[in-house]
Amino acid sequence: MTDTKKSIHGEWSSRFAFILAATGSAVGLGNIWKFPYITGENGGGAFVIVYLLCVLLIGIPIMMAETMLGRRSRQNPINTMITLADEAGADKNWHYLGWMGVAAGFLILSYYSVIAGWASAYVLKAFTGSFFGADATAIKVIFDDFVASPVKLLFWHSLFMLATMLIVVRGVNTGLEKAVRFLMPSLFVLLILMVAYAMTTDSYDQGVKFLFTPDFSKLTANGVLTAMGHAFFTLSLGMGAIMVYGSYLPKDVSIAKTVYLIAGTDTVVALLAGIAIFPIVFASGLEPAAGPGLIFQTLPIAFGNMTGGWFFGILFFVMLVFAALSSSISLIEPAVAWLVENKDMSREQACIWSGSVTWLLGFGTIFSFNVWSEFKIFDRTIFQLLDYLTANLMLPIGGFCIAVFAGWIMKQQHTEHELDMPNALSYQVWKILICYVAPAAVFLVFLHVVGVL
Ligand code: PFF
Repeated sequence: MTDTKKSIHGEWSSRFAFILAATGSAVGLGNIWKFPYITGENGGGAFVIVYLLCVLLIGIPIMMAETMLGRRSRQNPINTMITLADEAGADKNWHYLGWMGVAAGFLILSYYSVIAGWASAYVLKAFTGSFFGADATAIKVIFDDFVASPVKLLFWHSLFMLATMLIVVRGVNTGLEKAVRFLMPSLFVLLILMVAYAMTTDSYDQGVKFLFTPDFSKLTANGVLTAMGHAFFTLSLGMGAIMVYGSYLPKDVSIAKTVYLIAGTDTVVALLAGIAIFPIVFASGLEPAAGPGLIFQTLPIAFGNMTGGWFFGILFFVMLVFAALSSSISLIEPAVAWLVENKDMSREQACIWSGSVTWLLGFGTIFSFNVWSEFKIFDRTIFQLLDYLTANLMLPIGGFCIAVFAGWIMKQQHTEHELDMPNALSYQVWKILICYVAPAAVFLVFLHVVGVL
């Protein structure tokens, strides 16, 4: 592999551009919508600790590995696995890893887009003053009425998919990069503002205690799996999104430093979201385990009752939509890059194909909240099944394979050269984490869930 090789799709204009795009991919609904509700469902503090440990010991080393694989091959995840397996003299079946990633991207985006559609609809609700002076009950009615309507959900899902496709069509430098440049910093500021509001409620201490005081008796085996799966989900790992972004990364950028920054920002955003939301949950007498509607049933109460709430409400949901957009584009990019590289399609055609498939798959999630809410497979609605299958199974399995590939299959001289760590010790730490700790942890969590441990 030569050091001058570039992706045919282009390259990030700078390290900063990559940081923005990868942070844009990582920070999204996972941090603001999913993290609070799964923390609520799994009892709080203990769940948060397991999640943080997973980010540190599994997520960060795998994120470095994934970025490295992409940058070394400069192709889509499927071709990356073919090329790098070939380079290492390994079995060519490794390319199935790339395929699983593309499939996971479609499945995740199919429900991600529906939820991002909710956030888009809430921009309008905030704008028309629906939350003004409303209490918890009124806000819950607004939410329940909204998700009961398949037509409304379909409309917003379609709009969000269209927006995703329009950005992806424009490619690496123009579309992806510009879209995230201003959004991430603004979202951050707004979250801090929400935390400030949460501090004014009587239940601030209770909310923070719920988040940070561990009670391990509340954590089930499935809770541990959910925490680990979420570490993958929130960092966009295990499916090639970070790999494909890594393939657009200029050669002279330090992967390690960049990854610490991205993972650190992602974690801080999730914790801020938690700190903003749980005090409102307790102050309004709501249930922490309310499920996927949690932020839609809590934050509007704050917007409806705080000074400047109309303005901040609009701004918050706009930011949330943009955070979701900068993630959704990375969910579809592996498939688009593959179609362009291997099927000779233009970016437009590739976007239309992959966008349409995802849009159709989205119907399953839309109906899970209304007409098919009683239809369950393995005791789960289609939405819950898709979420479990992707976040709890496909991403950790993908991450496990990436760790094994980077740690055991690739030649040490290649990983060492590509990662270009500041010193030998950091490389050794990474090597131990990627060879032993990360794969063993994923494996043990799986064993724990099936009851062997
Ligand atoms: N990391 C995104 C979030 O937290 O919202 C979701 C995501 C994006 C997952 C890209 C996986 C992925 F490949």
